[in-house]
Amino acid sequence: MATIELVPEPAMIKKVIQESRDVKSYVLKLDKSRKIAARPGQFVEVSVQGFGEATFAVTRTSKDGSDFTISVKRMGHLTKMLHRAVRGDMVGVRGPYGNSFPVDAWKGKDIVIIGGGIGLAPLRPIIDHILQHREDYGKLEIIFGARTPEDILYKEDLGIWENDETIQLHTTIDVPFEGWNGRVGVVPVVVKDLALKPDSRVAVVCGPPIMIKFTVAALRELKWSDDRIYTTLEMKMQCGIGQCGRCNIGEKFICKDGPVFSLDQIPEHAL
Ligand SMILES: Cc1cc2nc3c(=O)[nH]c(=O)nc-3n(C[C@H](O)[C@H](O)[C@H](O)COP(=O)(O)OP(=O)(O)OC[C@H]3O[C@@H](n4cnc5c(N)ncnc54)[C@H](O)[C@@H]3O)c2cc1C
Ligand code: FES
Repeated sequence: MATIELVPEPAMIKKVIQESRDVKSYVLKLDKSRKIAARPGQFVEVSVQGFGEATFAVTRTSKDGSDFTISVKRMGHLTKMLHRAVRGDMVGVRGPYGNSFPVDAWKGKDIVIIGGGIGLAPLRPIIDHILQHREDYGKLEIIFGARTPEDILYKEDLGIWENDETIQLHTTIDVPFEGWNGRVGVVPVVVKDLALKPDSRVAVVCGPPIMIKFTVAALRELKWSDDRIYTTLEMKMQCGIGQCGRCNIGEKFICKDGPVFSLDQIPEHAL
């Protein structure tokens, strides 16, 4: 095994952002001032000494690559420890790893981003990339679903996207909620209501497995072909570099050949 690649680099938490009741974002800076050049869709392995390691999408990189952001949903052992971390604390980082969304191949196309909950984290760099190279892409439509208004992430970005005339943003919550005057309904239903036409567009879907499954079904019903629907797969990982065999689907390793795939590249059971 390539042990050198498995040694985490120390990184300092520069900033903690409480995004929602159970999601916090962390702006991290590598201790040795190594710049990080994560492509949209890539992930890092983040460790807390004595508590282990977990996988997180790089959800934003600063322009000069001197720092980067991860968003962490509180789930179990490691993420609970991370949620206790404060500015100035140190964590370990390996990566970035994995393939990335083929944003260059998508030039000239209209893009539909469909995120559910923390699933928006790996998709935000695509939106950042398109906004930084706006003239290279067609229309940008974003559908973001959260369980309740209290689960909505990236409120500042959503405000910016809402006011951007080149973006069509649809934010929805799962069920009615006191004080919420916006759209209500789960993401797959919104996709059907909007009757999203495939035309020459590309759709990128990420969220909880049930949301992905029904959103993909809705897109297929609307005659989207599998080569135009992309997702990023989640599976408990260990090495992150294709060495331990923990994350394979058939002959493919999610950590190395993925995590980004178009649906025609993976078996149905991988969703
Ligand atoms: C490529 C990739 C990118 C990811 N990006 C993010 C991200 O940006 N933000 C984020 O918050 N999480 C992300 N995850 C998921 C994250 O890695 C897990 O939630 C984390 O490992 C949980 O660690 P834990 O020790 O806190 O929980 P554990 O104690 O390991 O697990 C707690 C519970 O969560 C479940 N669980 C753990 N990992 C996963 C998983 N991968 N998928 C579904 N259920 C799981 C377990 O079955 C258990 O029920 C990503 C995973 C992958 C593979
Ligand atoms: S996590 Fe080890 S092979 Fe993918």
